[in-house]
Amino acid sequence: MTQGVITGSFERRIKNAKMNLIIRPPLSIKGTIDPPGDKSISHRAAIIGALAEGETRIDGFLEGADCLSTLKCLRDLGVVIEGPYDGQVIIRGKGLNSLKEPETVLDAGNSGTTMRLLSGVLAGQSFYSVITGDESLRSRPMGRVTKPLRSMGAKIWGRLGGDLAPLSIQGNSLTPIKYTLPVASAQVKSALLLAGLFANGETVITEPHRSRDHSERMLKAAGADITIEDKTVRIKGQEKPLKPLKMKIPGDISGAAFFLVAGCIVPRGIILLKDVNLNPTRTGILEVLKAMGAQITVTPKGETSGEPIGDIEVSCSNLQGTEVNGELIPRLIDEIPVLAVAATQAKGKTIISDAAELKFKETDRISLVAKELIKMGADILPQPDGLLIKGSPLHGAVVDTHGDHRLGMTLAVAALVAKGVTVIRGAECINISYPNFAKDMERLGVEVREED
Ligand code: S3P
Repeated sequence: MTQGVITGSFERRIKNAKMNLIIRPPLSIKGTIDPPGDKSISHRAAIIGALAEGETRIDGFLEGADCLSTLKCLRDLGVVIEGPYDGQVIIRGKGLNSLKEPETVLDAGNSGTTMRLLSGVLAGQSFYSVITGDESLRSRPMGRVTKPLRSMGAKIWGRLGGDLAPLSIQGNSLTPIKYTLPVASAQVKSALLLAGLFANGETVITEPHRSRDHSERMLKAAGADITIEDKTVRIKGQEKPLKPLKMKIPGDISGAAFFLVAGCIVPRGIILLKDVNLNPTRTGILEVLKAMGAQITVTPKGETSGEPIGDIEVSCSNLQGTEVNGELIPRLIDEIPVLAVAATQAKGKTIISDAAELKFKETDRISLVAKELIKMGADILPQPDGLLIKGSPLHGAVVDTHGDHRLGMTLAVAALVAKGVTVIRGAECINISYPNFAKDMERLGVEVREED
């Protein structure tokens, strides 16, 4: 296997060429979508595969820019990787202590998952490394990983006392800690679990609410000594080699979410989403849309690679406003932007709270979701920890992604029910998590034009 075939959008992604999307609202939408491979699981499959001993085979790997950043960093750490070729990746792992000091600065691009998870791994190595990212990633808080890693004995430096990348890491021997996360975060939890593999004893991590548990599932399958009890995860330093896995990555519910909302709000819409990951730590969006009155039918199809999957059918629905808060938030954190679009088409008021974390994503999603949807006529008010939205008609406008892939796709879904044409500036960033997004829109009968 060789490096992936270069398609139009892949080429665009490498060059990072500016691109606008121009969307006209369709009369209706109908069709079947295979959402892209899950982003969180793709990152973890690559990282855990690199630490395992033997050949990890991955099918359905997400070839979005973020997961490609993870592969590039791992290659720079000396890991032999074949692909991705049409979603297939082979990782020739040589064990927990096989990574090599990188000759260059590791570049995580736009990917918080790459930077935070790899920080956990790098903290326990016997070499020095530096990891950086793009402008957005260099402005995101890293103290949430560097602080607990330091208390494990890691030697990590960064701007602002270690809160901002570039991070420079001198690998060290690690001691286990008991740590309670101030805010639920799968990235922080996973960084500490990966560091815990290299610590001499049991690391105990507790979260205020449960966040996605893909790392736990995959580490367990690979033979790590890991136990989960309610919101607490324990991992012991790994003495035996990790086993390589054969993985089929399920469809990303965070990518599917754009079409779930589209199916609900476009007149006479009906969409079937195939083989979507139904891990309960990720399905908050289904619960909230159902509570809003969405017509959604889920057909479970068993498990793939230790993750439940199923098909989801969604059709045009009369939505009601709702309240979203508490333990639901980490289970739908990435879906809140598109949920805001559903709320603009619902009767009454939707109140999203306890979601201050949105400010620390690829952009400040509280202010920018509000700012861009207001340009389209939405009645949406940013709050310190969420959004207040009242149902109102939307109109086409010239809007901007601000380089945020999920904001870009959110605006594209809003465009489907807006009166007139919508121009989405900076839409090239959609390649970060959903390279075939525009093609999938077209598959449903939407007229989408790309403009350089
Ligand atoms: C992710 C965890 C979440 C999520 C991100 C992916 C992961 O971030 O928003 O898109 O793969 O672990 P936090 O851990 O910061 O909540």
